[in-house]
Amino acid sequence: MTTISPLIAGNWKMNGLTHSLDELSELARLLTTGEAPRALVVVCPPATLLAAVAAQGASSGIIAGGQDCHAQASGAHTGDISAGMLADAGAQYVIVGHSERRSDHGESSDTVRAKAEAAIGAGLKPIICVGETEAQRDAGDAEAIVATQLAASIPDAASLHEVIVAYEPVWAIGTGRTPTLDEIRDMHNAIRSRLVSRFGDDKGASIRILYGGSLKPQNAREILNVENVNGGLVGGASLLAKDFYTIISAV
Ligand code: PGA
Repeated sequence: MTTISPLIAGNWKMNGLTHSLDELSELARLLTTGEAPRALVVVCPPATLLAAVAAQGASSGIIAGGQDCHAQASGAHTGDISAGMLADAGAQYVIVGHSERRSDHGESSDTVRAKAEAAIGAGLKPIICVGETEAQRDAGDAEAIVATQLAASIPDAASLHEVIVAYEPVWAIGTGRTPTLDEIRDMHNAIRSRLVSRFGDDKGASIRILYGGSLKPQNAREILNVENVNGGLVGGASLLAKDFYTIISAV
């Protein structure tokens, strides 16, 4: 079996001002004075703080990531940020297809795939998010919905480049509710089989599948231990260095 090194990514969403870099310093302190983390640590701040996070995080192994990118490399797209700009600011990863982008900005899986392609083209590793709504899960459609999103959102270029999948049930994001460990295991196993059937045994087994949605210090250890959970995408709990560090240490 391929062993996958775990990755924990913090998604600050639309939170963070210059003073939030103090929290990053505290995280750096915990990471460098405590036991060495067993996971790669990525922090995805708002774009305004990206360059500062990349510069400040470097000495403690904290890697910077963007929260979204445009599918085009440049052009007349006021307010948007290209993957190349994120890379230029020091990012190595970028989240694409987060459910908040899919719902707030009407992004389809085709758009998400185009963004993931742009990210790969700029040398970034896309963290491609998928996940069902509560109604879809209640209707018994969760696996089918996620399979459809995966098929359309992951570009073929993933066969040659590194991509990460994040399974984030929409109803678990920011709600304090999580699926049961069995539900997480079943979904992550289902995602793994899709990746293996599309990209082959070796590549399909090597793609990280993160869990996201109300990952907290209290539940991190049990969730991160589930089969085929190769790390986490953490929203709210990544804003406090102490909580985020506890999650990282749970790996
Ligand atoms: P949450 O968010 O940890 O606050 O639930 C997760 C995410 O949206 O990535």
